[in-house]
Amino acid sequence: SMPDYLILINSENKLPEGFIDTVALVEVENPEGARFYVEEKTYQAFLRLQADIREHDGLEIALLNSYRTLEKQQAAFDHYFYKFGLAYAEKYAARPGYSEHHTGLAIDVSFLRDGKLTHGAQDLLELDDLFSVVHKKLARYGFLLRYPRGKEEITKINYEPWHFRYIDDPAIAQEIADQGICFEEYWEKR
Ligand code: DAL
Ligand code: ZN
Repeated sequence: SMPDYLILINSENKLPEGFIDTVALVEVENPEGARFYVEEKTYQAFLRLQADIREHDGLEIALLNSYRTLEKQQAAFDHYFYKFGLAYAEKYAARPGYSEHHTGLAIDVSFLRDGKLTHGAQDLLELDDLFSVVHKKLARYGFLLRYPRGKEEITKINYEPWHFRYIDDPAIAQEIADQGICFEEYWEKR
């Protein structure tokens, strides 16, 4: 069976029990040798996006991570918490059980430059000009920019230029992008 690619997960919408049983995960390796899982159609769409960006924009994008267990999500939250405090952590990491990283349908993307990937929210935010090149092409591959600038009060998450969400429907993704709405707003209207 197929996952519900349009599922909404946020601080008020927990990962439904059993959802992961509907997801086919593939194991992948990034250019730094990190290994993790991604939902299979999400990964195929990422590869097409990556090839497009490589061929037409001369940029090399790569995955930082995707599927996270509850434990890995806790670690992601704790990483920000111990480094920058609770208020910061809550703006960049969902609580375990409330992250779309639990679905394998969310990917965190970075740029490979001089053999290195940029990591961490602050350094990634400085690559906003590069990310805007990628953002223009997300919808055609079925991805959303999940935490857009200006929607922080609705998503409850700060602007994250690196976090893309696969919805398996380029037409809906384009509609959301064209309307300048976030995924929560799409859900309210549909
Ligand atoms: N960075 C996003 C909000 C997450 O942790 O799911
Ligand atoms: Zn993410």
